Amino acid sequence: MDNINVIEPNGKLGVLIVGLGGAVSTTFITGTLCARKGLALPIGSITQLATIRLGKREENRFPKIKDVVPLASLDELVFGGWDIFPDNVYEGAMHAEVLKKSDLDLVKDELELIKPMRALFEKDYVKRLEGSWVISGDTKWEKMLQIREDIKEFKAKNDCKRVVVIWCASTETYMPLSDAHADLAKFEEAMKSNSHDIAPSMCYAYAALSEGAPFIMGAPNLTVDIPAMWELSDILNLPIAGKDFKTGQTMMKTVIAPALKTRMLGLEGWFSTNILGNRDGEVLDDPDSFKTKEVSKLSVIESILQPDLYPELYGDVYHKVRINYYPPRKDNKEGWDNLDIFGWMHYPMQLKIDFLCRDSILAAPLCLDLVLLMDLAKRCGFSGIQYWLSFYFKSPMHKPDVVPENDLFIQYIKFKNTLRTIIGEAPVDYL
Ligand SMILES: NC(=O)c1ccc[n+]([C@@H]2O[C@H](COP(=O)([O-])OP(=O)(O)OC[C@H]3O[C@@H](n4cnc5c(N)ncnc54)[C@H](O)[C@@H]3O)[C@@H](O)[C@H]2O)c1
Repeated sequence: MDNINVIEPNGKLGVLIVGLGGAVSTTFITGTLCARKGLALPIGSITQLATIRLGKREENRFPKIKDVVPLASLDELVFGGWDIFPDNVYEGAMHAEVLKKSDLDLVKDELELIKPMRALFEKDYVKRLEGSWVISGDTKWEKMLQIREDIKEFKAKNDCKRVVVIWCASTETYMPLSDAHADLAKFEEAMKSNSHDIAPSMCYAYAALSEGAPFIMGAPNLTVDIPAMWELSDILNLPIAGKDFKTGQTMMKTVIAPALKTRMLGLEGWFSTNILGNRDGEVLDDPDSFKTKEVSKLSVIESILQPDLYPELYGDVYHKVRINYYPPRKDNKEGWDNLDIFGWMHYPMQLKIDFLCRDSILAAPLCLDLVLLMDLAKRCGFSGIQYWLSFYFKSPMHKPDVVPENDLFIQYIKFKNTLRTIIGEAPVDYL
């Protein structure tokens, strides 16, 4: 990487969230507002808490990332976004039931002032939801233009110098890559002719990029993972990142799978199941939305274990992923993993993981980091897919000729070395 000329983060940064009233968004906003008032620690946020080693080990330089990397400060963030329900963020958070009322009340006044703009929504793409707070328009192109207007107005009204758009809305139904996604001209034509190959999330992404905003895809939707969007982001010199926040069970997979592989232990089967009772769980109960998630979750193990190189260890792995909607658990997901592994002389062993996690508590710090890092990426002049942010995603986007990297630790090294390069420090090669 050549020397990078980073533009300083002057002025306010607008954070526009698609799915503003959902569990992840409201948890992200509340925690950030509390953190900047000194009422809570931003636990789980690497940009806020982690240190970075600079130089040789004997130099003993371990500053905090936020003290040496020119990130926007939390005080400069202004929140807004869209949802299909008109509830303000306080009401949305009360409905999501992730955070206690006593925690929400710490910043109630601020949360109540954040109200969603009308959503670009079509029920065909999220079958379990009915939207009342939506924009109208004859074509997807017209609706996309409305989202562009929203972004312009938000920026002007809140005096924001820059904006980042992040998708924290529901997972859309499975969509395969099609001819309409092959290049920008075809994509724009498909928007104008209202093709079913254009999902609402794609219209948001197109609008965001057209308004100069980096776009982050937190769900497994295809959205920016198509040649047309790679083309648009390159033309406009803007970064895009996705897909699907790497939080609970898949984060554990990307820790355990590399551990087995580095020790050359074999794997026969990996069964993962979850119970989840929030609205995300309800949406994923629809087979078409689950298919999008399943594809995202399944790809992980194979890319880490490389069965082609190790057929005797990983050539015949039975991998199954289940998500069960179970309302009593709300956002407090429980994920069970059973691994059938084998060792010396093919003797079988088992590994069981029971992760009683909280989905939105794990996702919120990722949202904060990604918003700050994508704003940084834009100020560094980075465009297209941000491979260095694969660390944050279950199904990191990659062009067909690039092998994806899913191993959490390799992703972490790439992430930190990119930060070092951005600030003009030498990457660490651990030799
Ligand atoms: N929490 C995690 O650990 C995690 C991890 C990876 C991915 N995700 C993804 O993040 C997303 C959000 O999860 P959540 O638990 O907050 O879900 P949620 O159902 O609580 O929130 C989603 C919100 O999006 C809104 N919405 C749906 N379609 C919309 C549209 N077209 N425009 C605007 N708003 C729209 C819904 O009304 C809802 O308020 C989901 O897609 C989920 O799969 C979450």
